[in-house]
Amino acid sequence: MSIGQATRRVEGPQKVTGAARYAADVYPTGTLHAVIVGSPVAAGRVTAIDAARAGAVAGVVRVLTHVDVPKLPRLEMPVAITHVPLQSDEIRWEGQAVALVIAQALEAAEEAAALVHVSIAPTDALIPGKGRLETPPDIGLWIVNGTKGDPQRGFEAAVKRIEQSYFQPTRNHNPMETSACVAQWSGDELTIWDSTQFSQNPRQVLAMAFGMPQEKIRVIAPHTGGGFGAKGYVWPHEILAAQAAKIMGRPVRLQLTRAQMYSMVGHQPECRQTITLGASRDGHLTAMRHAAINTTSITDMQFEGPGTATRTYYASPAIDIAHQVERVNLVHSTPMRAPVEGPGSWALESAMDELAIALGIDPLDLRLMNFAETEPFDGKPWSSNQLRAAYAEAADVFGWRNRAAMPRQDGVWSLGRGMSMASTFCARFPSEARVRVQGDGSVIVEGSSNDIGTGNQTLIVLVAAEALGIDPRTVTFKWGDTRLPTAGPVYGSSHTMGMGGAVRLAALEVRRKLAAHGASAEGPLDLPALMRDANVSEVTGEGKFEFGDAPMSMNGSGTPYAMQSWGANFVEVGVDRDLGLIRLRRVVARYSAGRIINPLTAKSQMIGAIIWEWGKATMEASVVEPRHARFLAKNLSNVAVPVNADIPMNAIDVGFVDEFDPHASPIGARGIGELGATGVAAAIANAIHDAVGVRVREVPILPHHILEALAKDGATR
Ligand code: MOS
Repeated sequence: MSIGQATRRVEGPQKVTGAARYAADVYPTGTLHAVIVGSPVAAGRVTAIDAARAGAVAGVVRVLTHVDVPKLPRLEMPVAITHVPLQSDEIRWEGQAVALVIAQALEAAEEAAALVHVSIAPTDALIPGKGRLETPPDIGLWIVNGTKGDPQRGFEAAVKRIEQSYFQPTRNHNPMETSACVAQWSGDELTIWDSTQFSQNPRQVLAMAFGMPQEKIRVIAPHTGGGFGAKGYVWPHEILAAQAAKIMGRPVRLQLTRAQMYSMVGHQPECRQTITLGASRDGHLTAMRHAAINTTSITDMQFEGPGTATRTYYASPAIDIAHQVERVNLVHSTPMRAPVEGPGSWALESAMDELAIALGIDPLDLRLMNFAETEPFDGKPWSSNQLRAAYAEAADVFGWRNRAAMPRQDGVWSLGRGMSMASTFCARFPSEARVRVQGDGSVIVEGSSNDIGTGNQTLIVLVAAEALGIDPRTVTFKWGDTRLPTAGPVYGSSHTMGMGGAVRLAALEVRRKLAAHGASAEGPLDLPALMRDANVSEVTGEGKFEFGDAPMSMNGSGTPYAMQSWGANFVEVGVDRDLGLIRLRRVVARYSAGRIINPLTAKSQMIGAIIWEWGKATMEASVVEPRHARFLAKNLSNVAVPVNADIPMNAIDVGFVDEFDPHASPIGARGIGELGATGVAAAIANAIHDAVGVRVREVPILPHHILEALAKDGATR
């Protein structure tokens, strides 16, 4: 049990025995239950609400509407939606809260919610494809619009030029645990148990909403049952629960239903992208253009930024990036399971395959030829980049160079192989941690981290144990409470670097404090002996991972280095030409992501991400019904996602290149985050093309796409 060794989760037994507690498992004395009533239409005004029948249900204590909820000041990020429900009669999306039923029991609140009668004067809703286009403002995190070099000249100089458009639908996060919170006031202090990826966010938003200092708000976030971005920002239910608790003078518990997760916490927006690539005869890129449109809500701005892939993936003398957003009457969109390069790599890595075929060059060679020695857009050196090693190892294990000798048919299955690059941003957030050595030599590590199921408690224990040169079994991690030192969020790739870095720095301070008693600067420590010698009950060290005053750093921003994590995906699929069915046969992926702290959870995370991408490539879509601007299905029985039967045993082989990134974090890690969910969808589409000669530029790739394309030019194949 140490860094680099596969280590089982320290919280595993708690989770599998049901002992682990989640936000909605808390029932303070006198808890009331709140259920949200959503708008049946996507745009309009509430003209009347008749809550008489709802109010008559036994146990119902109140039905709140916009008429009786106090007005809030204007809220800003990190609130996801500044148009907070129950603040006016306006309706901006289907499912938006129009009433909140509060009852003694959940069953009573649910029964009454169905009896609230809402009269609405509807107006026309904007739907995806028919919304209002806008150029997003520059938010400074990802490039919105920008040009390097002279793209026009580059395209004119190209011997081969391809231009294609790629579609990705709206998708929903669907974590196992639906979002939930319990709010309790005690005088002018608020405690909220919340299902969140970053406890500081509800704290900041609720302080804004109630005009109170953040110090008076405590967020307790125990285990969180998955997030995938849905719990990244603060959504209306968290504000409504706190408002209701204040009005009622009692704790209020609110948990969204699965269907409400489709209209109250965001989704990945629909993305339409056009890629233009120009190349010389020998395959060097002469120019690249990436134009993308993502849908977003009427009320707020989410800029997906898929063109970031074209900014960072390949060396090119000329790069042009143009993003737009399309305003639609849907709940606000938000980052989800590989935002930014997830959609971006679907388009770019499909286009690179098309270019390779047009040039008659092996797709791996095309990528190696255009390997970016430095950041392609501004020329900054990489903090570390072992992508070449990842390509080499993955290609070798897959047998890529020998694929011409591999079978092309297995029964009804036509076989094909495809590959792609994986790459994602390196988001780093400041984090603080405390290490407390107890009199008996045992160690408590503290930080307000959140646990979304990725294994970060185990990782923190390993980092602390290594930094102190002690047995990890003597380390306990306390997290999930804003009374602990302020950890950064659990977004993207950030927690390992942020909290991991802070914990290491805190541990090193402990070593310095114990130096007078014989502690060395490195190597193993005998903490019980050192503490006996020091003769104190506790020695603490504080650590802070930060970069000047910047609230966060994306892609190494604010440093002399560009930071990005990398990988190589190789995929084999089978396609049934008669039925259009697609089957996953095997995937080999290798990654360059800095030092890997716990290979067991890191591999699990990448395997999970590849399975997400199998879903994205062949199954998953939240289809918007155009007449009512609502999702056609709002559950897991009508939105297909991969299950065990879709993923053959041992089909997915992942691994990491041995690497230490000294610039990204004090522990050498660069963060894996959602890296495994980049590029894979394109590799699958590329493999399908290899199998049956059909190029599908829309995900999910469904049997009818294959059959229609085969019928069109199938006679020749
Ligand atoms: Mo990920 S979309 O940053 O949870």
